[in-house]
Amino acid sequence: MLKAENIRHSFDYLLFENVDLEIKPKDKIAIVGSSGSGKSTLLHILSSFLKPQSGNVYYKDKELYSLKEKELIAIRRYDFGIIFQFHYLFNTFTALENIQAAAILAGTEIDYSLLERLGIKDVINQNVQTLSGGQQQRVSVARVLTKKPKIIFADEPTGNLDKENAFEVIDVLFEYCDNNNASLITVTHDIEIAAKFDKIYYLKDKRLMLVDN
Ligand SMILES: Nc1ncnc2c1ncn2[C@@H]1O[C@H](COP(=O)(O)OP(=O)(O)O)[C@@H](O)[C@H]1O
Ligand SMILES: [Mg+2]
Repeated sequence: MLKAENIRHSFDYLLFENVDLEIKPKDKIAIVGSSGSGKSTLLHILSSFLKPQSGNVYYKDKELYSLKEKELIAIRRYDFGIIFQFHYLFNTFTALENIQAAAILAGTEIDYSLLERLGIKDVINQNVQTLSGGQQQRVSVARVLTKKPKIIFADEPTGNLDKENAFEVIDVLFEYCDNNNASLITVTHDIEIAAKFDKIYYLKDKRLMLVDN
């Protein structure tokens, strides 16, 4: 479904090279690495937001960075679900309005049982700025799942959560993938979280390596 070939990228210095990755429906993969190793950068490359210096990213056999802007916008709207490290919720809106916006854009319905499961039902009418970091993170997860994406890209989706809530969020994401034939690519520095995934990759010494789990 998603395939990265021979990706190389640098900013002031080389971040990584020779990165290959293939993701099939229902795959759940974690990318682990120390801070500054380039995890977020790699996720931006895979999710159509940053063209790599060299190498290609294919989604359904089409090279992402050769697509017309219109096609790319459609993929981002309907097929990709991105949970950014720093939420990017609409700050002047309530939690519910943020989730409604996603539903309207993608032409889907809100699943209220999901909001209950994520523990945000009681705060749904609050402005998102009044929510804790962990609550905002769970609103981001609800917003992305409401779009019914084919691939979820998540950058430290449990970074602001205690262990119990972190595992619950991961369970919700896994269940969504299993029930919807979707895949999940998560970046995390948390080994306990990573251990729950089918496959773990390490971003280390400027390479991406598969580690047996
Ligand atoms: N847009 C950018 N311009 C210049 N340097 C950047 C940019 N984005 C990230 N970097 C640098 O690239 C390195 C890796 O960043 P990042 O991908 O955020 O790592 P991680 O998510 O693993 O902590 C850092 O040194 C960071 O400062
Ligand atoms: Mg990061």
